Amino acid sequence: MKAVQVRKAHELAIQEVDKPQISNPKDVLFKVKRVGICGSDMHIYHGTNPLATLPRVVGHEVAGEVVEIGEEVAGIKVGDHVVIEPIRYCGKCYACRKGRQNVCETLSVFGVHEEGGMREWCVLPENQLHVVDRDIAWEEIVLAEPYTIGAQAVWRGEVEYGDTVLIQGAGPIGICILKMAKLQGASVMITDLSEERLKFAKESGADITVHAGKEDVPRRVEEWTNFEGANVVIDAVCLPMTFEMSFQVVSTAGRIVVLGFDERTAAISQLPITKKEVSVKGSRLQTNQFPKVIKLLNEGKLRQKGLVTHTFSLEDVQEAFNFVERHPEQVRKAIIVFN
Ligand SMILES: NC(=O)c1ccc[n+]([C@@H]2O[C@H](COP(=O)([O-])OP(=O)(O)OC[C@H]3O[C@@H](n4cnc5c(N)ncnc54)[C@H](O)[C@@H]3O)[C@@H](O)[C@H]2O)c1
Ligand SMILES: [Zn+2]
Ligand SMILES: [Zn+2]
Repeated sequence: MKAVQVRKAHELAIQEVDKPQISNPKDVLFKVKRVGICGSDMHIYHGTNPLATLPRVVGHEVAGEVVEIGEEVAGIKVGDHVVIEPIRYCGKCYACRKGRQNVCETLSVFGVHEEGGMREWCVLPENQLHVVDRDIAWEEIVLAEPYTIGAQAVWRGEVEYGDTVLIQGAGPIGICILKMAKLQGASVMITDLSEERLKFAKESGADITVHAGKEDVPRRVEEWTNFEGANVVIDAVCLPMTFEMSFQVVSTAGRIVVLGFDERTAAISQLPITKKEVSVKGSRLQTNQFPKVIKLLNEGKLRQKGLVTHTFSLEDVQEAFNFVERHPEQVRKAIIVFN
């Protein structure tokens, strides 16, 4: 079978590899149908993801159809449409015991620490797969994983009905956060530097869009919230400057949610944190968000509506990576189609 492998930095190849087989009674064999290309796949391709070792079969946004199940698989049938939950964890460490398997001491992420889903067939244990209704298009369900990133950020921010939520950044992650925050009943302001991305954020449900390069974001937040500040600030730009701004615009008793991996320091004083009693929370991948997202997909409440802008066949995967690299302004989400 064919698998897409990053062999070394900037070198992608379609390799011929052995088709995987069921070796454990809880395993499921599935035919891959769609794989989304994510910013982190691009980082692996550029050799700039410190967590990934090369060569690596990339892809963690994966949807497929079940073709064979192990003897002890109880909740999945042949023919089911599934999406993968890309985290493997120990179940014993402190984080796992606290129900936070996403930050397990020995966390292994599918397509990062281990071979991912950009290949024709995969075998995974049943507990890493979730069944979605068969009548929903593959282009919809392949977004389940990025939606869980949004769901996690909204959960970490304790977003409630009526809260004011400022999302910094209207890239694909900002849009997934936006969709989840709106479903929670929040009022959402979103910022970006791209008019096109702000226009799409508006179409995706944002109440207010702000051009961070042309407008004064703290001023706009003051006007919008009548000087209260945003109850939740979620940073999906992930630069030291956006992190710093979060403390300026958050309300009293507010929450700041951080998603970035940037190692540069930011200048944050203690005063706003103590005075406003702000909670600053990291949000990494997701924990227990798949069932929620799948319910919303099955109910038709979560639809991509223009988030997927490009599809490429497996044979054109190099072209796909080149296109995403060269035209970030045109690509929201690009998908690889497997036949
Ligand atoms: N923690 C996690 O689990 C997790 C998961 C996925 C992605 N991420 C991180 O989330 C971030 C966003 O991911 P993405 O795929 O949407 O990236 P992206 O680069 O497509 O989007 C970032 C957006 O921010 C905008 N931007 C840049 N500077 C800005 C500013 N000063 N103010 C407002 N907007 C600004 C850009 O125009 C762009 O549209 C990345 O840093 C990524 O590493 C974290
Ligand atoms: Zn991703
Ligand atoms: Zn663990």
